Amino acid sequence: MLSDKFKFIDKYSIGDTAITDNLIIHGDNKLVLNSITEFYGKVKCIYIDPPYNNGENYHHYNDRDHEDWLNEITTTLKLLKPYLTIDGSIWISIDDNEMHYLKIAADKIFGRNNFITTIVWQQRTSRENRSVFSNNHEYILVYAINPDKFKKTRNPIPLTKEILDRYKNPDNDPRGNWQSVSVNVQDGHAVKNQFYKIVAPNGKEHLPPNGRCWIYNEERMKDEIANNNIWFGLNGNGVPRVKKFLNGQKKGLTPETLWLAEFAGTNKLAKKHLLELFPNDKIFDTPKPETLIQKIINVASNEGDIIMDCYLGSGSTISTAHKLNRKYIGIEKGDHIVDVVVERMKLVIEGESGGISKEINWQGGGNFLFYENVNKKAITSDSNKNIT
Ligand SMILES: C[S@@+](CC[C@H](N)C(=O)[O-])C[C@H]1O[C@@H](n2cnc3c(N)ncnc32)[C@H](O)[C@@H]1O
Repeated sequence: MLSDKFKFIDKYSIGDTAITDNLIIHGDNKLVLNSITEFYGKVKCIYIDPPYNNGENYHHYNDRDHEDWLNEITTTLKLLKPYLTIDGSIWISIDDNEMHYLKIAADKIFGRNNFITTIVWQQRTSRENRSVFSNNHEYILVYAINPDKFKKTRNPIPLTKEILDRYKNPDNDPRGNWQSVSVNVQDGHAVKNQFYKIVAPNGKEHLPPNGRCWIYNEERMKDEIANNNIWFGLNGNGVPRVKKFLNGQKKGLTPETLWLAEFAGTNKLAKKHLLELFPNDKIFDTPKPETLIQKIINVASNEGDIIMDCYLGSGSTISTAHKLNRKYIGIEKGDHIVDVVVERMKLVIEGESGGISKEINWQGGGNFLFYENVNKKAITSDSNKNIT
């Protein structure tokens, strides 16, 4: 239950105040973030997609003057910081227009040493031929409260089918599927005992290629050959390679910083999803796809952790968080929070099949509470003008 600065609105909520962890709050994020301080130090991952100030007007808000924009985002980032857990992280979407100003502002707030990376996301796959350059990427700035702790707790990207398919078992090794990787490396830092002849089990001799040396010394290499860890091809005459077993691999891959559309989806995909949910509505021009937010949430948190977004828009962050069994706090000042966000979350709870639903076999369920910041004006959209 939130403080008396907020009014619980039963008819926009699913579940009662005793049992739910998921909060949707209608209000200006600066006001709200000053009033829910009981969540300080409890949020594992913040994802925000603020207005980009790129001169575009949207159905639900307009962009602003550069200084105003920078002041506002700076204030909001300062308010967000204390909410993060010690191993928590914040992920901020932005495009070219304000990226470099935002980086400097965020460095001052979170600390340059706590900057983790910039992700480049390919947000469209079609070419815009009317422009000088067809801009097809955005950025996501990532900061952690403590990079060492974040490094220990952040999750890898799950192994994909394409990667799993690379592991085979041509010699019926009882240890299971494996793939082979090179057994030679550049000789720049090599020591003398990395240069020698490898003798294969069939007697064939192998020298390292020019400019290369073996990764192991001769004694270790003999052990590895004896233990059937070096592969010389099906006929035994191939260049030596090391067998890397799937069983010995960590559970996933280190996330990369270039997120292509096939990995993280596009704005167009997200818009299509929204149109399926609301066929007759004026829809956000640039919603984020659930696949993009899924990647962020999966890397930055585990089931049961709290995710926060204080620029909800159409609610993509909390919709994804809900499907991934995270708790969430979502804040939005626009009156569309009722017609779009609440309605979307009701559909999610009913088991809607768009976005990441099929991939994760989403069946529906769960709950959320809707709170109104009582210091702000009433919701004014036609369908909801009776709310105060
Ligand atoms: C770019 S949209 C977010 C889109 C969202 N990621 C999605 O996928 O639909 C930004 C949202 O932030 C909201 N917003 C802007 N300033 C705000 C503020 N001070 N407090 C709360 N919400 C705000 C706007 O109304 C808009 O809905």
